[in-house]
Amino acid sequence: ELQRTLVLVKPDGVARQLTGEVLRRIEAKGYSIAALTMRHADRDLLTAHYAEHEGKPFFEPLLEFMSSGPVVAAIVEGHGVIEGFRTLAGTTNPTSAAPGSIRGDLGREWGTAVVQNLVHGSDAVESAEREIGLWFPQQ
Ligand code: CMP
Repeated sequence: ELQRTLVLVKPDGVARQLTGEVLRRIEAKGYSIAALTMRHADRDLLTAHYAEHEGKPFFEPLLEFMSSGPVVAAIVEGHGVIEGFRTLAGTTNPTSAAPGSIRGDLGREWGTAVVQNLVHGSDAVESAEREIGLWFPQQ
């Protein structure tokens, strides 16, 4: 199924100069970058993006972290790309993410209140379309 997904290089990934490495892995896999932008997300955008996590103990630290610096946002297209990018990214906790994945190869825990794990990828068709609408309002 031809899909599109929203990928974010989070502030830790941008600060560590891993944007190119993340985009390289996406392109090497054969997915297409359909749109690309860098922006400093504000609380309104992040509250909408992370609506499902509102009320969780890591919500405030998550917003602090995600607004701590610029984020690179991309619309990525390909067959099965929603699951495929999440496989490329690896599991949430970079300590246990599989080697070979972005988080497994490049991430680790830093002892912060929120897990800093370099990238975001949408988890379903509906969330992908919702998130693309938030980050790329013109698309
Ligand atoms: P992601 O899955 O991209 O989106 C939600 C983010 O919240 C997640 O990445 C982590 O950065 C963070 N997160 C999720 N679960 C926890 C947790 N249990 N403790 C701290 N941070 C978390």
